[in-house]
Amino acid sequence: METSLIKTQAYVNGQWVGAASGKTFDVTNPATDKNIISVPDMDRNDVRKAIEAADAAWPAYRDTTAKERSALLRAWFNLMITHKEELAYIMTIESGKVMAESLGEVAYGAAFIEWFAEEAKRAYGDVIPPHTKDRRLVVIKQSIGVVAAITPWNFPLAMITRKVGPALAAGCTVVVKPPSETPLTALAISYLAEKAGFPPGVYNTITSTQSSEVGKELCEHKKVRKVSFTGSTPVGKILMQQSASTLKKLSLELGGNAPFIVFDDADIDEAVKGAIVSKYRHNGQTCVCVNRVLVQNGVYDEFVVKFTKAVMELKTGDVLQKDVQVGPLINEKGLQKVEAHIRDAVEKGATITTGGKAIGGLFFQPTVLTGATPQMLIAKEEVFGPVAPVFHFNTEAEAIQMANDTDYGLAAYFYSKDVARCWRVAEALEYGMVGINEGLISTEVAPFGGVKESGFGREGSKYGMEYYMEIKYLCFGGISNP
Ligand code: SIN
Repeated sequence: METSLIKTQAYVNGQWVGAASGKTFDVTNPATDKNIISVPDMDRNDVRKAIEAADAAWPAYRDTTAKERSALLRAWFNLMITHKEELAYIMTIESGKVMAESLGEVAYGAAFIEWFAEEAKRAYGDVIPPHTKDRRLVVIKQSIGVVAAITPWNFPLAMITRKVGPALAAGCTVVVKPPSETPLTALAISYLAEKAGFPPGVYNTITSTQSSEVGKELCEHKKVRKVSFTGSTPVGKILMQQSASTLKKLSLELGGNAPFIVFDDADIDEAVKGAIVSKYRHNGQTCVCVNRVLVQNGVYDEFVVKFTKAVMELKTGDVLQKDVQVGPLINEKGLQKVEAHIRDAVEKGATITTGGKAIGGLFFQPTVLTGATPQMLIAKEEVFGPVAPVFHFNTEAEAIQMANDTDYGLAAYFYSKDVARCWRVAEALEYGMVGINEGLISTEVAPFGGVKESGFGREGSKYGMEYYMEIKYLCFGGISNP
């Protein structure tokens, strides 16, 4: 596809620039293993310049009206929609996400910008009834300052917009650090941000393979007031330690280990549909993908037969074809993890009912394992690939205990037709998000985020902007009658 949105430079202070060192790195298509193009490999000195630009742009930007910021966001949203096919194409070639899902992600990611264009105008404060006659008490909300957004490769667009949408709406300026696997979508939307009219320095994107060094600079630089990160729990812990030196505010959206519970009273066909959409979305490479399928004994066999059949029908192939459902894994490390989890499970007694094999390059067959047990690696760690282990359980209490038996707490799902059970189980699951008779729950209008070692902070929804604003209390004294 011909597109002018593929950029080969980073975007800092309203300029398209290379790394000061002149270094670049190649961006590779995981479906073909071919290089697409090179982009700047920036180091901490380049990052510092981006932070300084964002800091210099902040006073004027924070003083714009909410209506002006809303109009900028709206213009950016419109441009993303106008260019949706090109953005989806760029996303697909750099991430291996199948085209149908990339188009879905452009719509999903752009929706955060539309949502926060609207929310910008609703960042209300409060008037507090005073405790003395001569005072008036008011609470206002103000932008935090420079925000660093460190984002993952599995959602090259939406994880950026979910962070910068509320930040820009609140009056913050931003430095975006996309992953080295998928910088092109990030640069494409930076170009559209420039076209939308954001002033120089308000929106900056740096590209780099030097993640630890760049992350350290973003966490330790005094002018960065907030770091918002989506990625793994181990990296989240490092960023939190590094941010301690400046007591930075943090939003961390980290790993998950999502249970998907099917009770005896569930609609099994619906549960199978939900498990497919939740497990095999982006080839199992999302933080909210099902990691463990827990099925009650009475419906275990029926579920396994229907689920296996549905998995066998998934179409793997050329990611640019709109009917293909499963693409490659992101890299060799991802493929090896999938193989290691399957090997471990089979050694400990699991049976493969479909899949189980690599099929060339980074492609792997969608796989179902039955007879899974809590001792297996896959019960404890996020597989981040197209493998669904199916566990047995007897009672509701046992299902809840198994579901909560993890350090993670991002998303959980369950299927049941019993209303009382739906309430009981939803309340008992120690997760930030619960899908009840639903396998796909992400939307810009609802709060996304986890508990326990899945992190903290919420993205999207009416709560999203709170994480980019400071509360300031104003006390007006001396208001006595003349
Ligand atoms: C993620 O994998 O981190 C995001 C998934 C989503 O937004 O649905």
